[in-house]
Amino acid sequence: RPVPVIAIDGPSASGKGTVAARVAAALGYHYLDSGSLYRLVALAARRAELSLDDEPALAALAACLPARFSAARVMLDDEDVTDAIRSETCSVGASRVAALPAVRAALLGRQHDYRRAPGLVAEGRDMGSIVFPDATVKIFLTATVEARAQRRYKQLMEKGMGASMESLLKDLHERDARDAARTVAPLKKLPDAVLLDTTKVDVEQAVGFVLDRVRS
Ligand code: C5P
Repeated sequence: RPVPVIAIDGPSASGKGTVAARVAAALGYHYLDSGSLYRLVALAARRAELSLDDEPALAALAACLPARFSAARVMLDDEDVTDAIRSETCSVGASRVAALPAVRAALLGRQHDYRRAPGLVAEGRDMGSIVFPDATVKIFLTATVEARAQRRYKQLMEKGMGASMESLLKDLHERDARDAARTVAPLKKLPDAVLLDTTKVDVEQAVGFVLDRVRS
């Protein structure tokens, strides 16, 4: 039997990261935050002063990204970049490098490596469509852009990082448009994915919903 995969896709700040991590913990499964890979490429590109249009160079960087994940921390070489990759600059950079087919291809094998027993919860934009098309359960997790901007605002404030509601809304609109309009792996709900709208649902309820789908 293939190793089970729970694929959770959805737009930025929909809460899928929190939900996916809790579902993984509840099931004792591995967890893949695929967005962090695109964020790491964006950060590493900036450090290497690469242009975000230089597809071959970015793909080469993505193929041998010196990144490690350990105990909820993200390391690039020996530097802890957990917070740095969450900055708005890295968010915007990630959605730009993610539109490049060669970068996506370079990160594919790395994502497949996460599929190990007893199972995997993978979250992103194309987990159910491209990376794990044979996923056991596919969830499309979303919320209104206003609810998502509010969540991101709260997160940034809690981390003591500055933010303005207006620019967060603008960024989310732009990023949604870019993620949905790109030709490679656009974000969209698959016919075989279950819709979960978290606008008026809290994390506990969302986790319960996903676990019910897994167990049924
Ligand atoms: O999920 P997160 O907001 O961290 O992802 C950052 C960016 O990476 C997204 O805006 C999206 O463009 C890209 N991404 C992607 N495919 C994934 C995960 C993230 O294109 N599977």
